[in-house]
Amino acid sequence: MARCYCRLRRVLLCVCTPCILLFTFFLYISVMMCMTMTGSASPVVMGTALIRENTHFVAPGTYSNKSFAPYPQTFWGMDPHRKAFWNQLQLAVDRVFNPILRPYTVHKGYEESLSHQSVVKQHFSEVIDLDSTKKEFKKLPQQIQDFMSHMHRRDYPVLNQPNGVCGAGAKHEKEPPLLLLAIKTSELNFKNRQAIRKTWGQAGWVSRQRRNSSTGGETGGYVRRVFLLGKEDTEDLGVDVSKLLQLESEKYGDILQWDFKDTFFNLTLKDVLFWSWFSRFCGHTRFVLKGDDDVFVNTLNMITFLQDQLNKPKANETLQEFMFGEVIGAALPSRVNKSKYFIPDSFYKGLYPVYAGGGGVLYSGLLAKRLHIISKRVHLYPIDDVYVGMCMVRLNAHPVHHPAFLTFDFPSPKEEEETCSYHTILVVHKRSPDQLIKLWADMKNTQRQCGHVTLRVDEKKKDKDKPPVTVASPQ
Ligand SMILES: *[C@@H]1O[C@H](CO)[C@@H](O)[C@H](O)[C@H]1NC(C)=O
Ligand SMILES: *[C@@H]1O[C@H](CO)[C@@H](O)[C@H](O)[C@H]1NC(C)=O
Ligand SMILES: *[C@@H]1O[C@H](CO)[C@@H](O)[C@H](O)[C@H]1NC(C)=O
Ligand SMILES: *[C@@H]1O[C@H](CO)[C@@H](O)[C@H](O)[C@H]1NC(C)=O
Ligand SMILES: *[C@@H]1O[C@H](CO)[C@@H](O)[C@H](O)[C@H]1NC(C)=O
Repeated sequence: MARCYCRLRRVLLCVCTPCILLFTFFLYISVMMCMTMTGSASPVVMGTALIRENTHFVAPGTYSNKSFAPYPQTFWGMDPHRKAFWNQLQLAVDRVFNPILRPYTVHKGYEESLSHQSVVKQHFSEVIDLDSTKKEFKKLPQQIQDFMSHMHRRDYPVLNQPNGVCGAGAKHEKEPPLLLLAIKTSELNFKNRQAIRKTWGQAGWVSRQRRNSSTGGETGGYVRRVFLLGKEDTEDLGVDVSKLLQLESEKYGDILQWDFKDTFFNLTLKDVLFWSWFSRFCGHTRFVLKGDDDVFVNTLNMITFLQDQLNKPKANETLQEFMFGEVIGAALPSRVNKSKYFIPDSFYKGLYPVYAGGGGVLYSGLLAKRLHIISKRVHLYPIDDVYVGMCMVRLNAHPVHHPAFLTFDFPSPKEEEETCSYHTILVVHKRSPDQLIKLWADMKNTQRQCGHVTLRVDEKKKDKDKPPVTVASPQ
């Protein structure tokens, strides 16, 4: 009996000891993997999925294939990414909000914007003090240097804003606004703003007859408008236009301006500060169209499109992550020295997440509020639409591609020349103020003739067998 017991104990010892050791080892490996994967894991995973599907879009600005950075290979190969400045900063923040590593912080800290800010700032000062960062910094192009030395700051004061309401067009509304047009512009683009006000950007009730006139009825919604601006550098410019802008703001009530320098790399501030303003003033607004001041929007189509979305079953759930636009996947940062989009690889490494082109992107008010919250834990990135993509990844939401968003213009001049071409789109980039006025008049003239057309579908699906168009543009 005693011998038997002794043997049993030895067997147990032989079996259990390795088990315990293995378990400890496994635990260690899991924790290490969690820590490695926290940072930019999701964009890379999504990127590789897209590569497999063979949809390789190239970010605007990268025009030569030699300038591509190498693809990230494996997830443990991502270690080198940490050396890049932005990746390094973001990794630290992602780690703080990792629900596995720190469940307590994630749940408690969610509402407290103050703690977010301190976390973002704290890591910023840690990383920027590194000697290697300092040495590298001096060699970078000026605009990246400007960006890096201000990227921890978001609390820019408002200079002009609509008078306590969600943009122009707020009178006598009988229901919550359907759409807010939020247009990025700059102080000097008076002409663009005026053209937009007169054409597709008219605020107020917008409606059209339903296509099935047998069923009758009108579809429509209230539209509001706001322009997003920074400040022109008065020294560079030689004149101060702020008085003019103030007058414009008083007259139209659609100017939302902050006190930061209006440069390309500061555009992300317009997103972040807009979301914050939106969350405060636009509680019930259903949708936002954020675009440039040189786009043409078919507002009537947009209203119909949005009403259709609201009438879909389970609309309230899908609206939580509703974003439509021209979606760009598996894009790489531009490494072309002279490009406007140039990002040195000491600043960012890896693929960009899937994102919707910033020329014109449509999202729900519900999503705007979620983006506002999540943006507090994503470091600013110099390219605004990529930044929105980075926030979307962290919300586990994905922009949906729609062929009626043409942020790179019509794919062929021939398509544009068709009489009803502009009746088939939602957004097209880019058009001058004079072109906007002309297009708007043309739209009115062709309204009856083109009443039947539907939104355009993907070119590839439509004429798969046709040879490619080789007509040269007349311009
Ligand atoms: C990149 O360049 C190589 C040759 O330099 C070419 O074979 C390849 O097709 C190019 N890739 C793309 C995506 O253009
Ligand atoms: C419009 O007409 C089509 C058929 O022509 C029909 O399938 C559709 O349900 C109609 N829509 C409405 C809103 O009545
Ligand atoms: C962004 O705006 C701030 C505040 O005006 C300015 O100091 C900074 O240089 C700007 N950044 C870029 C990249 O221009
Ligand atoms: C959807 O949301 C709207 C506004 O938030 C609300 O009025 C409506 O009752 C909701 N619908 C459903 C089915 O929950
Ligand atoms: C960028 O351009 C400058 C001058 O135009 C050149 O001296 C420098 O080597 C270039 N840098 C890279 C990384 O190509």
